[in-house]
Amino acid sequence: MDGVRLNKFIAEAGVASRRKADELILQGRVKVNGETVSEPGVRLKAGVLVEVDGKAVAPERKKVYIMLHKPARYISSVKDQFSRKTVLDLIKGVRERVYPVGRLDYDTSGLLLLTNDGDFAYRMTHPKHEVDKVYLAVVAGVPDEKDMEAFKNGIVIDGLLTSPARLKVVRAEKDHSLVKITLREGRNRQVRKMCQAIGHPAISLKRIGIGRLRLGNLKEGKWRNLTREELRMLGL
Ligand code: URA
Repeated sequence: MDGVRLNKFIAEAGVASRRKADELILQGRVKVNGETVSEPGVRLKAGVLVEVDGKAVAPERKKVYIMLHKPARYISSVKDQFSRKTVLDLIKGVRERVYPVGRLDYDTSGLLLLTNDGDFAYRMTHPKHEVDKVYLAVVAGVPDEKDMEAFKNGIVIDGLLTSPARLKVVRAEKDHSLVKITLREGRNRQVRKMCQAIGHPAISLKRIGIGRLRLGNLKEGKWRNLTREELRMLGL
């Protein structure tokens, strides 16, 4: 029987998601028994030494699933080229090497998952799995019926039509409103761009749900492990 594929091995070792592992391999940052390998799907024989950026990688047995209430002004990646604070600065006392599942913008707060389970991260972020993401946004002005229709029918951003999304006004004030937005895609700054496109730019943005999972009353900057029930809801 053939061994595990290189990209899967790296993902299971908790170094990166499967997709990110592919990138690391294609960037020439992965060595197998001292040789750079640029083929993500190559199968490994038992006992080989795999290194990423010169560091040996070993399979991690315990899978960890964390929910973080990300504050604004934290970057959702493991390292930042401008030395800004990363979400990992908020995760203390976890031995496993977890990383964010997808990302929230620097200015966006709310529900962010972190894990060392590459398969799970892949499943949650791949568009074909269509997981709903739910956001609360404070936007300028008050969106009307026509704006809600635009969200439903799709809006062209960056030259591509968005897939159906929902916009609901939760509370309208004189010059701004609180809206709930649900979408399945996760394109770069998608919610902000869609709000901008309908003429109601986002003033603040917070993610409150992923699939059936809800942020609930977890305080900003705090994290917790997902419960067994929540894992089940996410298909684990
Ligand atoms: N859409 C955005 O514009 N920003 C996020 O952080 C997430 C979704």
